[in-house]
Amino acid sequence: MLDQRMQDAFNKQINWEFYSGYLYLSMASKFADTGMSGGQSWMTVQYQEELAHARIMFTYVLTRGGRVLLEAIEKPEADWPSGLAMFEEALAHEEGVTARIHDMASLALELKDHATYNFLQWFIAEQVEEEETAMDMVQKFKMAGEHPAGLYQLDKELATRVYAAPSPLVALDAAAGA
Ligand code: FEO
Repeated sequence: MLDQRMQDAFNKQINWEFYSGYLYLSMASKFADTGMSGGQSWMTVQYQEELAHARIMFTYVLTRGGRVLLEAIEKPEADWPSGLAMFEEALAHEEGVTARIHDMASLALELKDHATYNFLQWFIAEQVEEEETAMDMVQKFKMAGEHPAGLYQLDKELATRVYAAPSPLVALDAAAGA
């Protein structure tokens, strides 16, 4: 059984993962509006990943006999001056997510909830990747600057990203026979 404090932390984080998805979907819309279909596609993949993160946590809470309570999702920003500004915000956002996941892991240790601590290790590793990817894109947008040819090439690169369901979600779906 999950401790109430741990359950509350999961409920908050599930909401934050949905908000993250909302934020990236908003960025996908902005990229579409500026004619960068690769950026749109990249952000749509990121949105899918965030929904997967929420679902993994959702299922974990239920598995531990907890209760998921969904809250209203905050309205995301809709406008950014450039692709660089979007990825800078994505990086800052992911750093914030990392801090939240680390706080959850600290709480799990405080509560001697080693199962949750173990569960959160996947997310801790995932956040290293999330931050690295965003940092990489910030650098690439800085290199491309305002040059149309550079941005065109970068957009082509962004278009190559494809969604792959995260491994914990694949395992959950397999267990459910999905
Ligand atoms: Fe769910 Fe981008 O962290």
